[in-house]
This record gives sequence, C-alpha cells and structure tokens, in this order.
Amino acid sequence: MPILPILHYPDERLHTIAKPVSVVDNAIRQLVADMAETMYAAPGIGLAATQVDVHLCVIVMDISETHDQLLALINPVILKAEGEAVRDEGCLSVPGIYEPVTRAARITVKYLDLEGKEVIQTADGLIGVCIQHEMDHLEGKVFVEYLSRLKQGRIKLKMKKRARETM
Ligand code: NI
Repeated sequence: MPILPILHYPDERLHTIAKPVSVVDNAIRQLVADMAETMYAAPGIGLAATQVDVHLCVIVMDISETHDQLLALINPVILKAEGEAVRDEGCLSVPGIYEPVTRAARITVKYLDLEGKEVIQTADGLIGVCIQHEMDHLEGKVFVEYLSRLKQGRIKLKMKKRARETM
C-alpha cells in the first residue's frame, strides 16, 4: 500500500469541494487503506481525502494511542450540532501550526461504513472536533481559515518559507 503525498496549505487544491461516493466498492476500501497508512505514517489522528488530492467524501480517523481504532467515514453528514467548545487544532496540511478553534461541543453524524452500511453516531470531545475538522476539508476549508486575516497571513508566509527550505 502506498503512502500518499499530502497537500500543504495554501495549496489551492485544498479548496476543492469533494463529491459524494456513489458506491462503497473495493476502490474506495483501497483508498481508505492508503489514507490510513498515510495518516499513521505522518503521524496524525485524522485525514480527509481532499488532503491527498482525491476529491471524494472520505475521512479516516484514529484518536487511540494504540493506533488500532481506525474509523472510516464515507459521505458524512452532520444531523445535529449542540453547544460550543474551544480546542487547539493542528492539521497535516499545515504542519507545525496549532491554534484554538471554536466548534460544536457535540455532534450527531450520519455516514456509510466500509460495507456501505449507514451508521449514526454521536460524538463529543476530541473525536467530535476531529470529525468537524475533517468534514471541513471535504468542503474545501482548512482550519486556519477560522483565524484572523493577520494570523492567516503569517501562517501562509511560514508555510511558504517551510516549502522553500524542504525543497
Ligand atoms: Ni486537517
């Protein structure tokens, strides 16, 4: 299984809106496997297909310390969002940047699992935030876009500098 290259902010492709998956078939399961391997290798706790330049509504996540609780969400939709919580977020597409973001404290999300079966799940804490963060990617949004323009400008400069240094 290959490790896929991750797009880095401010790459324009991160603003692509993902299309829903029509059938959960072996190609989608392979994409999930490759995305999981990419996420674990990074290492990270969540990855949206958008970040590996595949514009389909697919997310992988694993917030466990043992890295054996892989969660794949296909075509996720938020049915209910309640409350407010602030948490520091980071992103594999914006390496080295951690900033607080306000999101819903608790969400109910509907998605398809790897067998194409519909799942409805309520999530709060880290997993709830992670789902909201990854779902933003599918809509072409990166978490730094919640920050002030000034902060976004500084982060862009930092990312450009970093890209030059790693070339
Ligand atoms: Ni991210």
